[in-house]
Amino acid sequence: MEKELRIKFTQIEFKDLSEIERQLFDASKKARENAYAPYSHFNVGCAALLENGEIITGNNQENAAYPSGLCAERVTIFHIGANYPNLKIKKLFVIGGPSRLATFSTATPPCGACRQSMFEYETKQEQAIEIYFSGLEGSVFKCNSVKDLLPFSFDASFL
Ligand code: THU
Repeated sequence: MEKELRIKFTQIEFKDLSEIERQLFDASKKARENAYAPYSHFNVGCAALLENGEIITGNNQENAAYPSGLCAERVTIFHIGANYPNLKIKKLFVIGGPSRLATFSTATPPCGACRQSMFEYETKQEQAIEIYFSGLEGSVFKCNSVKDLLPFSFDASFL
């Protein structure tokens, strides 16, 4: 019998974002402007809310040797892991889109490797991380947990 696990998300209109969600959108949008993406011309910004209220940002960093670059989400969460190892991440907002466009409404979902990396931190902190992604307009996608974006996932319990 075929079975399935579903990705779970809701969609939120910009006008319905809470104050902190709006702040994360703004921070992610700003971080996106500093993306280093001379090869793909696809700029991604990410903003994370920590449990102490701080917002930490990151963006994608590319390399002439392509695989040596890194996505915005991992730049952000690895920075947090390195510098705030004991603080939980509550929310993560991601905005990605072609650098040539002044605006776009397509929401870029985090890549598989970023989902796996986020899942590691969610497991480590024993508290769900809410994931948001959106374009610069349109609507915002929200997952209540990394698990909702990465069902049937691998973690240390299999080792
Ligand atoms: N990228 C991200 O930063 N996050 C994702 O989840 C998807 C892809 C970056 C990697 C690369 O610099 C560019 O977008 C094009 O793939």
